[in-house]
Amino acid sequence: MDDIANLKQTLSDSIAAAEDQAALEAVRVSALGKKGQVTQLMKGLGGMSPEERKTAGPALNALKDEIATLLDSRKQALESVEMDLRLATERVDVSLTPRPESEGFIHPVSQVIDEITAVFGDMGFSVAEGPDIEQDFYNFTALNIPPEHPARQMHDTFYLNDTGEGERMLLRTHTSPVQIRTMENNKPPYRIIAPGRTYRCDSDMTHTPMFHQVEGLVIDRDINMSHLKGCLQEFTRSFFDVADLNVRFRPSYFPFTEPSAELDIGCTRNGNSLTIGGDDWLEVLGCGMVHPKVLEYVGVDPNEWQGFAFGMGIDRIAMLKYGIPDLRAFFESDLRWLRHYGFSALDVPGLAGGLAR
Ligand code: DAH
Repeated sequence: MDDIANLKQTLSDSIAAAEDQAALEAVRVSALGKKGQVTQLMKGLGGMSPEERKTAGPALNALKDEIATLLDSRKQALESVEMDLRLATERVDVSLTPRPESEGFIHPVSQVIDEITAVFGDMGFSVAEGPDIEQDFYNFTALNIPPEHPARQMHDTFYLNDTGEGERMLLRTHTSPVQIRTMENNKPPYRIIAPGRTYRCDSDMTHTPMFHQVEGLVIDRDINMSHLKGCLQEFTRSFFDVADLNVRFRPSYFPFTEPSAELDIGCTRNGNSLTIGGDDWLEVLGCGMVHPKVLEYVGVDPNEWQGFAFGMGIDRIAMLKYGIPDLRAFFESDLRWLRHYGFSALDVPGLAGGLAR
């Protein structure tokens, strides 16, 4: 019986001395594990006389229970110490000033596309899209630019490699093919804009092989030239935020419109600098009444439906509105440039957006 009392003392001392879960587990194994001291003593019961077993049995069982209870309570104590420690080290100090985060910026082209969309959105337009890789039919033929038409030469088209399977695909030279795709896939009336990337084999101070355009198309039963004029005058005044901006429509030629016009807005030139508003003129877009042949190509009856279209370069008007001098910098992905000319992502897109800082 002394053995049991001694063992109990040693084990409870070791339990109390265990500083962490691993040490405690080692004590548990040494006492109650398969080869543990208590387990061994219990195995010895089999070799005892019935008399001895009568006293040793209950004593050993009690020892086992006591040790198990001591182990358990030590375990809980250690756990709560560990939890306190974690709570102390992982405490969130809400009074700390936030660490600076690196914020991304909206590219001026994306910003201007959002602004254009906001103005036309208010006028009831929705946004349409089309592929960058186009078929000749959508980029030219259906826009009344047949194969021998001289306008094809002016487009400096990038053609994809000949795959030997039918005609060669091309990179769209303007957003006008989206007009065709929209009319082909939907029933009139239409009131859409289509912003997107366009490509021409051209590169100098003011031209990049990839650039951006926005197309517009309005077709209904009685849309006429005065709707075209009112809509585009309203757009330029809202977009440039100049209420009395001069606008003028100059006769022009496009194969897909008849009559065709170009829209100039008032500007002021001073040496190399150019500002919006004033008595000088700056060309901003091409437009016109959609040619009946174009409507016929997409199966829209020109005796029932008519309307206007326009196409505008986005990059140039972004440069104008935000005083960005070099077009090529738009596409160089220089982060310093983007931080300077970009827009805060937290601004609400639309006309409210100004320069980031
Ligand atoms: N697609 C023409 C271009 O890239 C721009 C244009 C002019 C589009 C007149 C139109 C339009 O929809 O009516 O030069």
